[in-house]
Amino acid sequence: MPKLKRLQDRYNTAEEKETYIENMFSSIDENYDFLNRVMSLGLDMGWRRRAIKAGKFSNQSAILDVATGTGDLLLSAQKAIPGVNIVGLDFCRPFLLKAKEKLDDKNGRHPVSFIEANGLKLPVKDETFDGVLTAFSLRNVASVDSLFSEFYRITKPGGKVVSLEMMKPNNSFQKLVFSIHFKRVVPALGNLLAKQAEAYNYLPLSIENFYTANELTTIISREGWRNVSYKNVMFGFVAIHVGEK
Ligand SMILES: C[S@@+](CC[C@H](N)C(=O)[O-])C[C@H]1O[C@@H](n2cnc3c(N)ncnc32)[C@H](O)[C@@H]1O
Repeated sequence: MPKLKRLQDRYNTAEEKETYIENMFSSIDENYDFLNRVMSLGLDMGWRRRAIKAGKFSNQSAILDVATGTGDLLLSAQKAIPGVNIVGLDFCRPFLLKAKEKLDDKNGRHPVSFIEANGLKLPVKDETFDGVLTAFSLRNVASVDSLFSEFYRITKPGGKVVSLEMMKPNNSFQKLVFSIHFKRVVPALGNLLAKQAEAYNYLPLSIENFYTANELTTIISREGWRNVSYKNVMFGFVAIHVGEK
């Protein structure tokens, strides 16, 4: 199969992107967690914990984790916030099944439930949740603006949104590391360890075609969120954005 060089070789419309993304994640469910640990040098769970802390959610909050995937953010929130009532949502069934398996291993904590749905059309009433969390989802949705608008709709006044995401390389140091680690090492490891060349060729392209942390701040604010701020993680390759309703 010829190597696909550009995102436009994969999809052109919003519908095509959603189909591509759902199929792509469905094909990597077995190795996703392991490769996350390897490619982030074992740091990704710590980033998720930092994101949850940044939300400063009170005990007993009701939180929606959109694009929960295999549930790593949800599990961290469940551990970190006593009494949290957390719901994980994703449109990729194999990932949701993995998340449920992991929860069963760690039962006895607080209520967790799952919804299989598209994050851009949340089957949730207005002003239902105290907070919305999302990690590594934004590059994969058809519209980041619509996603934050949907988050705003379902969040109670005074609630918060927290996003953890890879940012577009923005300075010469980031561009250099990116060109080595993400463009060469990551696709090679994806191919070698998981035989998933396509998914791990898509990953650096999705980051390069994403936004800088400042650009993302502007987008989130445009959808109504107030006091939007971010913290750089890992020299700015990753950022945690927080906004208030
Ligand atoms: C890179 S994974 C991140 C999973 C998880 N949040 C984590 O921290 O590991 C991206 C997830 O976004 C989900 N996703 C992408 N677009 C979505 C959409 N429109 N609606 C629901 N889930 C979506 C994918 O199915 C996948 O589970």
